Amino acid sequence: MKILCVVGARPNFMKVAPVLEALRRHGHKASLVHTGQHYDASMSQVFFEHLKMPRPKVNLGVGSGSHAVQTARIMEKFEPVLLREKPRAILVAGDVNSTIACALVAVKLGIEVAHLEAGLRSNDWSMPEEINRILTDRISSVLLTPSADADENLRAEGAPDDCIHRVGNAMIDSLFQHLEKARATSALTDLGVEPGSYALLTLHRPSNVDNQEVFSGLLEAVATLSRELPVLFPAHPRTVQKIEAFGLSSHIENHPSLRLLKPQGYLEFLALQESARLVLTDSGGIQEETTALGVPCLTLRENTERPITVTEGTNVLVGTDCARIIEEARASLARGARSAKPPSLWDGQTSERVALLFDRLEVEGFSSR
Ligand code: UD1
Repeated sequence: MKILCVVGARPNFMKVAPVLEALRRHGHKASLVHTGQHYDASMSQVFFEHLKMPRPKVNLGVGSGSHAVQTARIMEKFEPVLLREKPRAILVAGDVNSTIACALVAVKLGIEVAHLEAGLRSNDWSMPEEINRILTDRISSVLLTPSADADENLRAEGAPDDCIHRVGNAMIDSLFQHLEKARATSALTDLGVEPGSYALLTLHRPSNVDNQEVFSGLLEAVATLSRELPVLFPAHPRTVQKIEAFGLSSHIENHPSLRLLKPQGYLEFLALQESARLVLTDSGGIQEETTALGVPCLTLRENTERPITVTEGTNVLVGTDCARIIEEARASLARGARSAKPPSLWDGQTSERVALLFDRLEVEGFSSR
């Protein structure tokens, strides 16, 4: 089957890479389209190198913009690609603007949409990602879910059973495939840290970094924590922009154990996660990776679309209150590491299950929404 796999932003690459590879292994004509939503070398190119992904057939080169501008640009540039390439289906991943933009163009041209990571819900409409998730699921005929809660969410919204396919978590395929290589990097020695001797922090959600009061409170909490345990903070470009715009640099400069770093490559970041004593994050994917690795994770948000990382994994939802974060971090340090028990189907075989499903869809045809 001819399938175009779409990537656009950093969290897409490690989900799509193993699926693309499996589809090709099964003889499907699968190729890659990069929307260019993320374009810095450290947010895009390095992932192609580390994940050994083929060069995209097309790069739409859309870059940054408001949500409307970015989404519209992707749609305008993706339509001629679909008209030229005429794939039977496209595969989109996750919840970024590239996901909904490409899905919407395809469905209106009568091209099937497969959504990898379907059914996740934070039930928080203030998140742009929640809107992207819900709308993409509504127009996809192949809903590839990571867990039972996602299936239930989709059923509750009226998705037909035969469109829902629980395949597991493709991001964990990439994690298992790359862990040895990650361990062989010099990520820790380059930073002069020992395993288990630091916390790892990421922040980039609009609700956390676009609001000066919230962002300043979060930095205060991690700065306090850094006096007890050094904190490594690889920062997303939008986060760096906000530190400068809100004049928050002193929060970091006055705390030498809170170290602001450039965005890390995939392998280096995996190595840093696996050896961290504690991870603090507002990312979606990192909640999942820490669960698979058995590393304690505190999620600095009021909700999560990945509740299984809390019920079955190592994740604790702690919100954004400064005192609560410090208290939970201390409690986590006192508790120590938990054993890794990845949820069912987070077994490194998700991409193989997706490819087998496409083998079947090629013969039996797609179910309609
Ligand atoms: C996007 C996704 C989010 C995902 C995150 C992971 C949406 C709505 N959000 O958020 O779900 O968790 O990616 O990284 O799609 N920028 C750069 N260099 C880059 C990319 C972005 O400097 O390579 C800057 C842009 O100038 C922009 C800001 O980062 O101002 C935001 O980029 P954008 O692509 O809009 O969304 P993210 O915040 O990265």
